[in-house]
Amino acid sequence: MSQPGMPSVPFNTAPQEPRRVLLHVGCGPKGNRQLNPMYRDTSQWREIRLDLDPTVKPDIVCSFVDMRAHVPDASADAIWSSHNIEHLFDHEVPLALAEFVRVLKPGGYTLIRTPDLNAIVEAIVKNGLEFPAYMSPAGPITPLDMLYGHRPSIARGNTFMAHHTTFTDIRLANLLMQAGFAEARTRKDSGFDLWAVGFTEDADVPAILAELEAHGLSFRE
Ligand SMILES: C[S@@+](CC[C@H](N)C(=O)[O-])C[C@H]1O[C@@H](n2cnc3c(N)ncnc32)[C@H](O)[C@@H]1O
Repeated sequence: MSQPGMPSVPFNTAPQEPRRVLLHVGCGPKGNRQLNPMYRDTSQWREIRLDLDPTVKPDIVCSFVDMRAHVPDASADAIWSSHNIEHLFDHEVPLALAEFVRVLKPGGYTLIRTPDLNAIVEAIVKNGLEFPAYMSPAGPITPLDMLYGHRPSIARGNTFMAHHTTFTDIRLANLLMQAGFAEARTRKDSGFDLWAVGFTEDADVPAILAELEAHGLSFRE
């Protein structure tokens, strides 16, 4: 595990390394559950786990708002960010997305999953703030948890779990474009998740969309 101020060992790849680098930001505890199925093929992808919380034993301990001490420019083929941009203060979101642009290789992309504010608002209007909307491995999740973070975890002292901002599809796509991505697509799933993909300038958009679609994530209009 790297420490603040130390060089980032995981990115020192051998020239013959054929696998693509996946930077898994806000990774949480190690395990397949956190990894989208398309990145589980270890013959294709080399996962580098990054989190602010040292107790989840990431490869790199730092905030993805500023990864400059640990993650070189143009070093990742893809960034997977699942349920963590909502943990940032709102003013930090443009900084984090600009960091994603910096660390992605030309042709790279980021895949993001975050709670969908539109779906949460619809649920609140229908059933109120505190009904269990779905069951997670950590227990039942209510709209209040989706807005402000998983309350039982925060009550236990894990304040990294608090949410500080929220997104709609239009807002997230605009933020990706403002951060320097050349193209952004979003999709909503049948639950409460909003997905977004941001493509760098030279990205082969049809090929990436086809790979995502082959793993159950269609971003086609
Ligand atoms: C709800 S968990 C999500 C874990 C995993 N990605 C998943 O989808 O199951 C949020 C994670 O983001 C991490 N996190 C929050 N803010 C962060 C930041 N600024 N930089 C890096 N990690 C952060 C937390 O420590 C926590 O592990």
